[in-house]
Amino acid sequence: MQAVASAPAKTILFGEHSVVYGEPAIVGAVNKRAVVKIKPSWNKKSILRSYDLNFEAELDTANKKYVLKKGKPGIIRYILEALNKVHNHSPIEIVLSSNIPIGSGLGSSAAVTVATLAALYRYHNIRFNKKSLAHDSHMIEQSVQGIASPLDTLVSTYGGLIYLSKNKKIEHFKVNFNAPFIVGFTNKHGNTGKMVRYVKSLKSKYPKIINSVISSMGQLTNYAKQAIFKKDYQRVGKLMNMNQGFLDVLGVNTFELSRMVYTAREHGAIGSKITGAGGGGSIIALCPGKLESVAKAISKFDNILKLKFTRKGVSSRVYY
Ligand code: MEV
Repeated sequence: MQAVASAPAKTILFGEHSVVYGEPAIVGAVNKRAVVKIKPSWNKKSILRSYDLNFEAELDTANKKYVLKKGKPGIIRYILEALNKVHNHSPIEIVLSSNIPIGSGLGSSAAVTVATLAALYRYHNIRFNKKSLAHDSHMIEQSVQGIASPLDTLVSTYGGLIYLSKNKKIEHFKVNFNAPFIVGFTNKHGNTGKMVRYVKSLKSKYPKIINSVISSMGQLTNYAKQAIFKKDYQRVGKLMNMNQGFLDVLGVNTFELSRMVYTAREHGAIGSKITGAGGGGSIIALCPGKLESVAKAISKFDNILKLKFTRKGVSSRVYY
C-alpha cells in the first residue's frame, strides 16, 4: 500500500507584511508542486529521501530526531512535526519530489507540509477536509518557524487565487487570472522571520508612518481585488508598482530585488514587485505579451520561473 499526495507552491500578489497586521491579501497557487509518497518500510527503519532535493535521512519519528545521510536538512523538521502529529511510529519510507525552488518565496515548506500531512492522513485512513488540513498544516509551520501566517498553507491546500479578508474570511476568485507572469529569484534567500521582526521594530519606532503605510497597503489590496474581478491587468500592474514602493518603505527591499523589479519594468512588465517577505528571495512581474523579453533580461543576473496560477490545490490518493 502506498499513499501519495501533492500540493502546489504559491505566490503572493498583494499583502505581504501588511497581512501580519490583519490587512487583506491576495495569493495564488502556481503550477509547481511538492509530491510526497509514503509506504511501509521493510527494514524496520523510517527513511526520508528526495532525489530532487538530493537528500536522505533516517528518521526517529517518536523523538523528532534524524540522522542525515546525504544533503541538507532544511525541510526535515516540517516532515518530522507532521509525523509526530499523525503517525504511529511504525517504520515507513517517505519519498519527496518537488520542483519548487527552496527559499525562493514560493512557499516550498508549506507545500511539503500540506502534502506530507495529506499523505499521512491517507496512509492511516484518517478522514480530513481542506479546512482541517490547512489549519493543521499552519500549526506545523508555526511550531517549526515560530512565526507564520496562514497564507501559504491555505493556498497550498485550496489552490486557485484567494482573497483573504481583514476578518480572515477566504474568498475564491471565480475569474481566471491568466495574464502570464514571471517569478525572479536571487541566490540570496530571504529569511521571513527576520523580515517580519524588522517591520515590527520599524512599526514600534515610527508608528504613525508605518501604521499608515500598512493600512494603505490594505486599501491597495482591495483596489487590486476589484481590478482582478474586471480582468483589468494594467490596473493590477500599476497597483503592484505602488505596492513595491510601500514594501521599500518597510525596509524589505534589497539591491538584487530592486534590480529585478526595474529590469522587468524596463523590458515591458506592466507591474513588478517583491513577492513574499523580501530581504532576498523573489519578485513577481506581470508581463502579458512581454514574457520572453522580461525573462531574458532578468536571467542575465538572476533566476527566473515562468509560472501560471492553477486551480489545483492538494490532491491525495492511496494505491494497493
Ligand atoms: C511571507 O511569505 C509573507 C509575510 O507576510 C509573512 C507571513 O504572512 O507569514 C511577510
